Amino acid sequence: MTETWLVTGGAGYIGAHVVRSLQAAGAEAVVIDDLSTGDLRRVEVPFVQADIADCELVADTLRRHRITGVVHLAADKQVEESMREPLTYYRRNVVNLMQLLTAMAQCEVDKLVFSSSAAVYGMVDSAQVREDHPTRPINPYGETKLVGEWLIRDQARATGLRYAALRYFNVAGTAAPELGDLGRTNLVPMVFDALARGEQPVIFGGQHPTPDGTCVRDFIHVQDLADAHVAAIAALDEPGAGHVFNVGCGRGYSVREVIEMVAEVSGRGITPRVGAARPGDPAMVVADTTHINATLGWRARHDLREMVNSAWRAQPRQLSAVRT
Ligand code: UFG
Repeated sequence: MTETWLVTGGAGYIGAHVVRSLQAAGAEAVVIDDLSTGDLRRVEVPFVQADIADCELVADTLRRHRITGVVHLAADKQVEESMREPLTYYRRNVVNLMQLLTAMAQCEVDKLVFSSSAAVYGMVDSAQVREDHPTRPINPYGETKLVGEWLIRDQARATGLRYAALRYFNVAGTAAPELGDLGRTNLVPMVFDALARGEQPVIFGGQHPTPDGTCVRDFIHVQDLADAHVAAIAALDEPGAGHVFNVGCGRGYSVREVIEMVAEVSGRGITPRVGAARPGDPAMVVADTTHINATLGWRARHDLREMVNSAWRAQPRQLSAVRT
């Protein structure tokens, strides 16, 4: 029988890619999204517009569509916003997860893939970070993701829920132009925005303890990330499954290298300006991907050029107009 997965936040940039990966793997998907940041134009499967705080409606959706399991992405994800509005983040990322787990328990839906984040680590003191590195988040966003992992683990112990928590590193690129990232809060879209305004991008800090002085991150193509969800789902067939995985490439690129890649791909001359360091930015966060490689047989297939190239090509028309 075909499996049907409920994707919360499936109208979002990452969620829409997850839906497509599920379909490519032969599963069906149903999306629930409150459209606070999602876009209905990305959704081509049965859709329920709702906040997952609405436990009864979620339970009704689980029953009506005979849902096999849930991929839970609906959450707020801006670090700076979380510092200003911690209550919002705890409500939407933690309380709403409690509501979802309640509905799942009521309906005996016992498989969950959870969207976690490298933000659970905070400041990292090793070249590559393993899943057993101490978790010391430095902002409410990272804290809510870590609390989410704990909640799920405890519920799994109590009820036999099977789960995989995926700690996303820095997501970029797109599998199709219509699925592109509409958010403007991460490095690659912010560089594009600066170019669209006819300005030079700003590097946040040039004196970090890294080879070129700019921060180093592990960039992962959203298509690879989406495929990691499907690989994680396969591991949930095993009774008692409870996993935490880093999802990255295992290779770091500096902010300056990423901007150089944008210059190459776009054919634009770019001379970034080095500004002040952004408070709270760790110098270097790169995944150790041994665990996910060995356990799921998953590894990233796309490189930084493909991420930047696909994102560049998905840019809206107004940006094309200023391309030279
Ligand atoms: N940066 C610049 N200039 C810009 C934008 C970003 O120099 O205009 C730098 C940042 O200082 C940072 C790097 O580019 O060093 C990446 O910044 P992002 O904002 O794209 O991503 P972060 O690494 O800060 O955060 C991302 C996600 C978070 C997640 C975190 C986990 O946005 O949700 O990864 O590591 F928590």
